[in-house]
Amino acid sequence: MHSVPDFLIRSLRPDDTDAIVGLYEAASARDINIGPITAAQWTDFVQRPHNKGGQDFRVAVQDNQLIGLAESSLRDQDGRQVRFFKLVIDPSRRRQGVGTALLKELLALNARDSALSFQTLAASDWRDGLAFLERLGFLHIESEITMRCLSLSAQTPVLPDAVVVERIEAPWHLAAEVADLHNAAFALDVAFRSYSVGEMQQILAEEGQVLWVVRDHSRILGYCRMECEPGLIWLEQIAIDPGHQSRGLGMALAYGALQAAGIDHGRPAGLNVSSVNGKARSMYRKLGFAIRREVRRYSVSQLDLIGRMAIAR
Ligand SMILES: CC(C)(COP(=O)(O)OP(=O)(O)OC[C@H]1O[C@@H](n2cnc3c(N)ncnc32)[C@H](O)[C@@H]1OP(=O)(O)O)[C@@H](O)C(=O)NCCC(=O)NCCS
Repeated sequence: MHSVPDFLIRSLRPDDTDAIVGLYEAASARDINIGPITAAQWTDFVQRPHNKGGQDFRVAVQDNQLIGLAESSLRDQDGRQVRFFKLVIDPSRRRQGVGTALLKELLALNARDSALSFQTLAASDWRDGLAFLERLGFLHIESEITMRCLSLSAQTPVLPDAVVVERIEAPWHLAAEVADLHNAAFALDVAFRSYSVGEMQQILAEEGQVLWVVRDHSRILGYCRMECEPGLIWLEQIAIDPGHQSRGLGMALAYGALQAAGIDHGRPAGLNVSSVNGKARSMYRKLGFAIRREVRRYSVSQLDLIGRMAIAR
């Protein structure tokens, strides 16, 4: 039996920031996957367009102390409404119904009859989190796999005639082409979100962004976007025009870009890939990437969640 909850749930306020930083610190001391967050990172996160200033975030408070947080945003995925959320609960207040109560508040944000689903991420070794989600009927629909490469293992791939791989010095000039390629190549992704030219321009202008493309004489056929830091080369995105996939272009592009970036044990390459993206996973294995970590994506329809909630407490 859970003890009777004596906490209240309310909307997020700007003056919660210090308490949120403290909550993250306590939670990440227990679960390394949660990770600490600074006040500046939190403010930045809340201000991201899809978070709408945190208007759908909720906090649980007990005796003036913040003991739980639900981050949440509603997104449109190809005409389907998905509410993404993340719960962070103070480790000393676990198993007291705080997570369930926060989730109930998120349910109240939506129209009851909509064909909406709830989605969240949980590391595959986070046993408490997985047990919580499975009890509420969430299904594991895919995983985000983190891979690392310490040295490129593939032999230099051969490009088709008249096709070249090259680095772009002022990437933001190609924002329109890159956004088009992104939106076409990732359209069937579970977590797909379309990018406007303006958004892509903003991303490509960020510090540390490195853009490589594969092109023929008339147009760009694919791009590879990387973030190069002193100790890590992060392969953020690679996409080939759907009409030109499986011709060796992706392999040649990734190989060219990673080789030029200079990978070794002190500066490995890393990336995230979906467990259901067989093509990309196979390509990364051939390049020399190995699995490092798995974060699972869980989903449940709103109606199923309402049903489970009714019998959960
Ligand atoms: C993933 C992607 C970049 C690969 O580029 P590509 O040009 O299609 O791939 P290549 O022709 O260079 O093939 C390289 C390897 O990928 C795998 N692969 C490519 N097409 C495949 C297919 N149709 N079925 C299975 N594996 C495939 C194979 O391992 C292949 O090596 P092989 O030809 O020696 O068997 C491209 O398919 C793409 O843009 N997909 C959509 C966006 C995406 O998923 N990006 C990666 C996100 S992490």
